[in-house]
Amino acid sequence: MLAKAARFNGHAPIGETDPLISEALQGELRRQQDHVELIASENIVSRAVLDALGHPMTNKTLEGYPGHRFHGGGEFVDVVEQAALDRARELFGCDYVNVQPHSGTQANQAVFFACLEPGARILSMNLSAGGHLSHGAKPNQSGRWFDAQHYGVNRDSGLIDYATVESMAGEIEPALLIAGGSAYPRVIDFARMAQIARSVGALLLVDMAHIAGLVAGGVHPSPLPYADIVTCTTTKTLRGPRGGLILARAESWRDKLQPAIFPGVQGSLHSQIIAAKAVCLGEALQPEFRDYAQRVVDNARRLAGVLAEREIRLVAGGTDTHMVLLDLSARDLRGQQLQDALARVNITSNKNPIPFDSPRPTEWRGLRLGVAAATTRGFGAAEIDVLGEVIAEVIESIDDLDEQRIHAWRSRVLELCESFPIYT
Ligand SMILES: Cc1ncc(COP(=O)(O)O)c(C=O)c1O
Repeated sequence: MLAKAARFNGHAPIGETDPLISEALQGELRRQQDHVELIASENIVSRAVLDALGHPMTNKTLEGYPGHRFHGGGEFVDVVEQAALDRARELFGCDYVNVQPHSGTQANQAVFFACLEPGARILSMNLSAGGHLSHGAKPNQSGRWFDAQHYGVNRDSGLIDYATVESMAGEIEPALLIAGGSAYPRVIDFARMAQIARSVGALLLVDMAHIAGLVAGGVHPSPLPYADIVTCTTTKTLRGPRGGLILARAESWRDKLQPAIFPGVQGSLHSQIIAAKAVCLGEALQPEFRDYAQRVVDNARRLAGVLAEREIRLVAGGTDTHMVLLDLSARDLRGQQLQDALARVNITSNKNPIPFDSPRPTEWRGLRLGVAAATTRGFGAAEIDVLGEVIAEVIESIDDLDEQRIHAWRSRVLELCESFPIYT
């Protein structure tokens, strides 16, 4: 065991110092190359983002904000953080930005820290309708520390029923209304949510983690004109490193939100990740990113179309985003079964609850698919058609998956992977 452990040598590459981790890293790269990634929260970042993530800037400890640090030696990190701030402001058209959240969950936690007293009432979307754990779900700290109530979607349409949200808000009188989630495939009417929040004196937080890249690319309405505060991750459609952002239209949020991140819920910044955020925000400002975002939405619609033609039911009847949510309930199929079957043909996906689903993950009847990573790879209509057909055939033959068919489907998927290599 000891022989396999890492030995410190500041100059040697990881392959020489830590074979166990080095082999796992190589295995992960091969896995990404040989599989089609359809998990909706994933993407394939640029080499430039990876360069920033692996930079010795990681050695730097700093607390505070540019120009006001608690440690010395921050002049280059200041350049990086200022660039990330400027780029995010330009990209999303807002006055206040914080690029330090270590994750989307911590961005939300900081907003709660800034705006809510312990025990305050929150109204957010429930998990089976597509909400997120950090919006007051019981297993999350937000669900323990706040009194969170949840709205869902209409049982027939799968869409948010704004009249129900309005009447719940009137009854509950929340301090905070949250819109946005992890598995809602349609556009949310942010103006309507803002009007509901205002009518009961609540603040509106929009968590646009999944759609931030689509908003940046101009192919999805922006919540910024309507929400008091917007949070997001820099992963997913924005195609950046793991981490979060907090944005607000009004600069006046600065006094509350700066201390909420530091020292409220975080300590030192992750400087190299902020560098990677700056890079991805810079990439998203380029005209090509608009084209990418459009292709993401086109590919998701195409995938939805192929699946719907094969009579596979889709939650909310389709998509306006990068994401398609399969409703497997009519086929007596569980999400886990399909996730496992698709893994055998080198397609990576995740089981997901559908509206009104069981709280138990093993019983979930949904499968969530997203095309942001496949689109980055270069997949267009032809490749999406192949994926849609393979997924439909796997579903149709789920009780009879013999090795020969699995092999044939996997060969088709591998052919796509080989035609669109990553990190060459
Ligand atoms: C809507 C939403 N908010 C927050 C998060 C949490 O982000 P993180 O995993 O960075 O904490 C996610 C993650 O998938 C999400 O979908």
